[in-house]
Amino acid sequence: MLHLHFNPDTDVSKVLAPDALDMFQFEWKIYQKLVRANEMHHREIGQLLRVEIGRRFDRPFAFLDLACGDASLAHMVLEGSKVANYEGLDLSRPALQAAAKVMKDVPYDVELAEEDMVEGILSRPDSANFIWCGYSIHHLQPAQKQEMLTAIRGALKPSGVFVCAEPVCLAGEDRANYTHRWQTELRHRFRSLTDAEYDHLWQHISTHDFPEAPEDWVAMGKAAGFSSSREIYRFPGDLFCAAFLFEK
Ligand SMILES: C[S@@+](CC[C@H](N)C(=O)[O-])C[C@H]1O[C@@H](n2cnc3c(N)ncnc32)[C@H](O)[C@@H]1O
Repeated sequence: MLHLHFNPDTDVSKVLAPDALDMFQFEWKIYQKLVRANEMHHREIGQLLRVEIGRRFDRPFAFLDLACGDASLAHMVLEGSKVANYEGLDLSRPALQAAAKVMKDVPYDVELAEEDMVEGILSRPDSANFIWCGYSIHHLQPAQKQEMLTAIRGALKPSGVFVCAEPVCLAGEDRANYTHRWQTELRHRFRSLTDAEYDHLWQHISTHDFPEAPEDWVAMGKAAGFSSSREIYRFPGDLFCAAFLFEK
């Protein structure tokens, strides 16, 4: 059974990084091209999640997808698993509509909601066995990221697991150096985009992305109270994005 909830009262101006959302509310198709071309390495990260889920959950479990986008990673990861219910939160209607198409025939319960991930996590204590968040927490400032990780730990059931993938910088690298290092290199990586699409995306990245170093993600996980925090994947080549696994 699939439910898609749009919330007419959503006031996007009240979320923590409202301007970062424009790209996904109005230009969803640009990001979708990157996902379809696997230029954000969803396939490799999804494979790691499949392995983690397979070895941890031999009984029904609840999966929460924060800022779910089109839910394509979760769809791939959960196929053949014991998942009982999937919940995806996002504030982009085109993304949620794409997610509804992706999830329409799955054999588990699906709830898709137009909801702020920060509010959403605080209102779901002790509710999920597995939480995934792809490329969405880096718009927050460091103290907000730390609060988000603490809230995510609170939303996990005992022995629950959180995995996120995020842009990362080198230790000590400031945003000016980060954006300088990436502007040309990223154009070579995002081959699926036209020049106009790339310029639009670069405007979003250079304005709204606030990457942290991998060691800072691990430290934030420890400070949030997770029993273990570790890096599980790094994009090939020079440092751009990485994925982290946190155990409650
Ligand atoms: C880079 S996309 C990632 C989508 C998906 N997680 C993935 O890995 O492909 C960022 C997503 O975060 C969503 N988003 C940004 N801020 C949000 C917020 N405060 N609450 C819920 N969703 C948010 C955007 O609408 C967009 O779908």
